[in-house]
Amino acid sequence: MRAAILGAAVLGTGVAQAHMAAWATGMYCRNGTTGTDNQNTADAVAPLFNLTFTDWWFHHYNGCDEFPPSPGDFLELPAGGNFSVEIAENRAFTSLSYGGSKVTEWGDGKTHPEDYSITNLGGYNITSSGCIPSPNMHAQNESMAAGTAFAISYNSDLKDVTPENLVVFSIRYHTPFRMVTSYDVPAALPACPPGGCHCAWGWVPDHCGTPNIYMEGFRCNVTGATSTTPVAPGKPPVWCEGDSLACQPGPKQMVYWNQLDGNNVILDGWQLEGNGKSPGYNMKMGFYEGMHCSISGVGVYD
Ligand SMILES: *[C@@H]1O[C@H](CO)[C@@H](O)[C@H](O)[C@H]1NC(C)=O
Ligand SMILES: *[C@@H]1O[C@H](CO)[C@@H](O)[C@H](O)[C@H]1NC(C)=O
Ligand SMILES: *[C@@H]1O[C@H](CO)[C@@H](O)[C@H](O)[C@H]1NC(C)=O
Ligand SMILES: *[C@@H]1O[C@H](CO)[C@@H](O)[C@H](O)[C@H]1NC(C)=O
Ligand SMILES: *[C@@H]1O[C@H](CO)[C@@H](O)[C@H](O)[C@H]1NC(C)=O
Ligand SMILES: *[C@@H]1O[C@H](CO)[C@@H](O)[C@H](O)[C@H]1NC(C)=O
Repeated sequence: MRAAILGAAVLGTGVAQAHMAAWATGMYCRNGTTGTDNQNTADAVAPLFNLTFTDWWFHHYNGCDEFPPSPGDFLELPAGGNFSVEIAENRAFTSLSYGGSKVTEWGDGKTHPEDYSITNLGGYNITSSGCIPSPNMHAQNESMAAGTAFAISYNSDLKDVTPENLVVFSIRYHTPFRMVTSYDVPAALPACPPGGCHCAWGWVPDHCGTPNIYMEGFRCNVTGATSTTPVAPGKPPVWCEGDSLACQPGPKQMVYWNQLDGNNVILDGWQLEGNGKSPGYNMKMGFYEGMHCSISGVGVYD
């Protein structure tokens, strides 16, 4: 309780709270979408729901795709290694703003119990949908966090990135939850073209609010590549909860769902636990934990 109050005092006012996005060098709209350096920006964070393809694709609807990173800024992907991002509600709470002075272990700049959950809220109140209120991670506890993904496209120009050539290469289960989150990079990723690659971060929350999706753009670059086998085009993932033989094997697209058009996943009915189907980055959609080694179609996992 005391920690929560201290956290609130340190924060001060004027910091907009929203949902969650991944913050790191190489991201689009790191400075916001007005052309000034907004240390409190949450433009990358806004969820995507019921939008046209043009609007949701790389977060066009609020202009994020028009604010690329500074020249030379790339999210570095060490082949066979890992990289970390900070998943937070606002840039203010990350190491990218205020010299990192508002950073805590959590994406809302506050302090929470180590086992933060709806049964240990540390002074907060449960949301009306029965979930943790802050940060807005759409979960009851860490094990219920739906999972997040990174995908890569071997195209330096964002205009050339398509749902087919943007292929999921890494999944982290039980995220978003804590702020610093690492993703494994397959050793099978080949080098990027001279202008680098594009990547996207994605999340589909499992209930606890509007059934939206998240898609956030990055310029990225594979370092230490040894493979020269190109990444094969991705196929739409398919619902396969409880039946892994029904999963889409091999390279997969990100999940594009609940938009006005451009969806690659359309679902009806219920998931095993009784809620409506929610196509998260987890085994319900055939996304196993960790790096996806079958991106060139020759992986050992699927
Ligand atoms: C989605 O948008 C369409 C067109 O604007 C609107 O008619 C519809 O009610 C919206 N659906 C939801 C679930 O918000
Ligand atoms: C973001 O703001 C910083 C600080 O003003 C500046 O150095 C950088 O060039 C800006 N980046 C972009 C992409 O505008
Ligand atoms: C990430 O890679 C570093 C070496 O670069 C290693 O020390 C660390 O254990 C790795 N982290 C994870 C979560 O695999
Ligand atoms: C929790 O709810 C109670 C009763 O509505 C309210 O008085 C209190 O301020 C709330 N606490 C927080 C941290 O929002
Ligand atoms: C997490 O929350 C879910 C849903 O409320 C619950 O079934 C599960 O037991 C919880 N797990 C832990 C470790 O608290
Ligand atoms: C990407 O990384 C490779 C390997 O370190 C490097 O040679 C190349 O110049 C980088 N590309 C860009 C656009 O920075």
